[in-house]
Amino acid sequence: PEPTPIPQPKETLLLGNILDVDRHDSVGSLQRLAALYGGIYQLKLKDKIVFVSSPSLVTELCDEARFEKYISNPLKEVRNFAGDGLFTSWGEEPNWTLAHRILVPAFSPVAIKKMQGMMMDIITQMLMSWEHHAGQPFEAANSYTRLTFDTIGWCAFRYRFNSFHTSEMHPFINIMVKLLLESQNRARRPGLLNQVFYNTDAAYRENIDELWRQCDEIVAERRKFPDPEAHDLLNNMILDKDPKTGEHLSDENIRYQMVTFLIAGHETTSGMLTFATYYMLKNPAVLVKAREEADRVIAEAGGNLLKMNHAKLTYIEAILKEALRLQPPAPAFTVTPKKEEGETLAGGYHIAKGQAAAVLLHSLHRDPGAWGPDADEFNPERWLDGREIHPNSWKPFGSGARACIGRIFALQEAQLALALIVARFDLEMADPGYDLAIKQTLTIKPDHFKIVARPRFRNQ
Ligand code: HEM
Repeated sequence: PEPTPIPQPKETLLLGNILDVDRHDSVGSLQRLAALYGGIYQLKLKDKIVFVSSPSLVTELCDEARFEKYISNPLKEVRNFAGDGLFTSWGEEPNWTLAHRILVPAFSPVAIKKMQGMMMDIITQMLMSWEHHAGQPFEAANSYTRLTFDTIGWCAFRYRFNSFHTSEMHPFINIMVKLLLESQNRARRPGLLNQVFYNTDAAYRENIDELWRQCDEIVAERRKFPDPEAHDLLNNMILDKDPKTGEHLSDENIRYQMVTFLIAGHETTSGMLTFATYYMLKNPAVLVKAREEADRVIAEAGGNLLKMNHAKLTYIEAILKEALRLQPPAPAFTVTPKKEEGETLAGGYHIAKGQAAAVLLHSLHRDPGAWGPDADEFNPERWLDGREIHPNSWKPFGSGARACIGRIFALQEAQLALALIVARFDLEMADPGYDLAIKQTLTIKPDHFKIVARPRFRNQ
């Protein structure tokens, strides 16, 4: 039978559907289009992309026998500096399998638990900076980005960015942010224009060289002065062998993984923390419960932060999951059929091999069929009251073998940070009337969301 046409807004001559997407709020535009056209639709942007958000169709896209990760246009640009690192490699590239096998144990719950001390080191620095700014409004996302960058630097390769000691971000971080921004712009421009933008291109190349130089220096240093006691990912990458083949990662690939961890690990985690903070402050009863739980778990550890059992922070975990549901910091991931002849989805929608099908997380995560009539409400209890959650309706970390390798890392770091924040500080929004505005780069986070923190015990 003939395939069913995939719904699509009318194309404009030459521009396709570019005008249907507000470039400053593409997530909002794509969500509105899903509400209008349904759980599957397509747009002609630079290429034709299918957007999918119905739980049953997403379930099909998550079937790894039929679909595999597709490296979307922005990710192709990120490949210019993250190479065949885990995030930006195609499934069939040998370095994906090699690095995946070597690194999965390094990101296991047991391995991440061993990083609690290193995580607490940075969290404590953040708490001190909040004390220092007691009573003064500051941008939550800014503080959390310092936290997550410093945490990745310290836990992944024992490198101190020391973001809480300076007003300016570390130059390494600035370079990374510039590269990500430029990658996005490049992904939008037609290829030829990227060469016309010669000056930007030269600066882009220089930034990449500088980023690589700094990573290579860290690796060279560790090779020269091995540190068997450092329970960091750099040791795993240098010392661990593929259990199957005995192979090691090359220095070039280690560099790509370092860049990858910095990119994949910092914005997403800080976005999650910022959204979670926003929703807690909008829902004071949630904040009260989070604090009760944090106080209890800290007391059970006898006040020793290294002994805190983050697995007992189940309510705080539910807050984070709920924030990831309503505002997934990485708002989409993309797959394509594995077979030459493509795949036909239920309803007769055909997707060709090489065509990108994007899972639109905002719409999936608010699907009323999967989430019920309160789908749009922030309600951490839904994770704890025993109700059934549709298995493929919550995908903030992607899916299958290509899902996020760092999710346990991110959740542990964020659980510990939020617990200590609510235990130590009284919090309020700087502007009580603030309504969520979203800032979009490769990821999303609240824009201009300022908070005021006051040490809790000093007030009593
Ligand atoms: C992959 C989200 C934290 C490292 C992914 C993917 C998503 C995601 C959606 C799949 C992308 C795709 O299919 O194209 C998140 C979110 C995080 C987070 C929401 C925090 C809340 C982290 C952290 C690290 C990390 C902390 C590293 C320390 C990676 C890597 C991949 C990945 C290496 C690629 C895995 C592979 O394909 O083998 N992440 N991530 N992420 N993430 Fe995360």
